[in-house]
Amino acid sequence: MSEAPFRILLVEDNPGDVRLIREILSEAQGLRFEMTVAGRVAEALEKLEKQSFDVILLDLSLPDSQGLDTFHTVYARAPEVPIVVLTGLADETAGVRAVQAGAEDYLIKGQCDSELLVRSIRYAMVRHEKLRETLRGTEKFQRGRVVGFIGAKGGVGTTTVALNVATVLASEQRNVVIVELRPFIGTLAAVLRQAPQRNLSQLLALEPAAINQVEIGARLVTLPFGLRVLFGPQGVEEFREISPEQAEVIVETLASMADYVVLDLPWEPLESTAAAVRHCDFVGLVSQPETQ
Ligand SMILES: Nc1ncnc2c1ncn2[C@@H]1O[C@H](COP(=O)(O)OP(=O)(O)OP(=O)(O)O)[C@@H](O)[C@H]1O
Ligand SMILES: [Mg+2]
Repeated sequence: MSEAPFRILLVEDNPGDVRLIREILSEAQGLRFEMTVAGRVAEALEKLEKQSFDVILLDLSLPDSQGLDTFHTVYARAPEVPIVVLTGLADETAGVRAVQAGAEDYLIKGQCDSELLVRSIRYAMVRHEKLRETLRGTEKFQRGRVVGFIGAKGGVGTTTVALNVATVLASEQRNVVIVELRPFIGTLAAVLRQAPQRNLSQLLALEPAAINQVEIGARLVTLPFGLRVLFGPQGVEEFREISPEQAEVIVETLASMADYVVLDLPWEPLESTAAAVRHCDFVGLVSQPETQ
């Protein structure tokens, strides 16, 4: 039986090391692989959003992220993919720490031959699959929590509160998505200084039955600190009504993709908001004290 090629994401900014690893892997007997290279963490997160991988080979020192932070950012985004960390001789401790934090293995660059690298990749995949089986049915693989925020009226700080909660959860290495679940333009993009091309509007063109993890995943934007965002419509031409069925399937599908789904809900009375609220584990009503 011929095995499907390993899909490897190599996160490494040094072209010399990229070449070396490619050569080492090519020397391995009988190993077929497809390697995608990302030179920055932000680029790695983008690739993870678009493609599936069997294993991630992760250099911890990158232009946009250093040390254990690099591991945490990638791990938070793709807990389902085994990670083998690549370290230099001088920072072996970081490799050990990464393994304590959930990496499958670490390898010291310059000290691994093809046999060692291939064995590490294969073991990483087997161990990770076993872990997933053990965890399936336990909290980690259960539906994520859905936390909604709704304003008593406009402009009371709902988006601010929702974003603060999502940011704190994401900084605790949780896998978090914040959603601007509204048919019209919101303020999240401006607050986050983003001009997102991908957003909720394109999902709302789909029938509820066609909205799934792939369709939603393609519209998520990952921020540098790991928080993923589903932005609302960005312009008048993107305004679309949200049916209650669409709201439900979006919220529940996201709950299967993240530990926490934070909803920034509009204050206007909308059926889609009522439907989303029915799927929340917690709803926060944001108001402000009466002023004299
Ligand atoms: N605790 C606060 N104290 C003072 N200003 C705040 C506070 N929270 C938010 N703001 C400011 O109030 C304005 C409205 O905040 P925000 O956009 O979070 O409210 P909102 O309820 O989501 O508004 P909208 O109805 O437009 O969705 C923003 O300029 C924000 O910076
Ligand atoms: Mg708002």
